[in-house]
Amino acid sequence: MEKRLKNGKRVRLVTGDITRIAAGAIVNAANSALAGGGGVDGAIHRAGGPGIMAELDEIRAKIGRCPAGRAVATSAGRLPAKYVFHAVGPVYRDGQHGEPELLSGCYRTCLQMADEREVHTISFPAISTGVYGYPLSEAAGIALRTVVEYLETRPTGVDEAIFVLFDAAAYDAYAGVLGEYGSAAGTP
Ligand code: APR
Repeated sequence: MEKRLKNGKRVRLVTGDITRIAAGAIVNAANSALAGGGGVDGAIHRAGGPGIMAELDEIRAKIGRCPAGRAVATSAGRLPAKYVFHAVGPVYRDGQHGEPELLSGCYRTCLQMADEREVHTISFPAISTGVYGYPLSEAAGIALRTVVEYLETRPTGVDEAIFVLFDAAAYDAYAGVLGEYGSAAGTP
């Protein structure tokens, strides 16, 4: 599904593995320790190669942990991208502990980082919806609202945001929300 915003910017939903889809920047669903893990994080390090962790080791030595809601940038190794933005999503408790703001902050931070680096296409996974337990439909609403609002209201050089959803359940949750924005059309 693709949604073209009034200013010509695009939000696209696809199913698949985020490491296989070309973009200026690929966003990782990382942890505060920037230590690697399973899910998206594992796939990115496996496909991108050891250079990404070597850069994270240097970043960790400088800043320590990366708090939830924020992100750090590395190059992308063997991935079809120039950068990886390692975003730290919130661990979901009950939605009453700042999780929506932190999740929204991940997407906004990554879009700002894309602008600082003149990246025009950015791909996102469904941050926090795996190990971190964020309910898919809530996470989809926050992710899409944040990205659409940024693309519509900021003077941004990002032309396209791609959400790479791993399975049909995630795709359907996002498509349900994006469909409400109006003239969305097309299939995955
Ligand atoms: N491409 C796209 N999406 C993927 C991929 C992939 N290769 N692998 C998993 N996913 C999906 C999951 O199905 C889920 O919907 O990404 C979403 C996020 O899941 P996680 O990767 O578990 O991320 P998160 O919930 O943010 O938890 C982060 O998990 O692996 C650790 O180091 C990571 O500690 C951190 C935590």
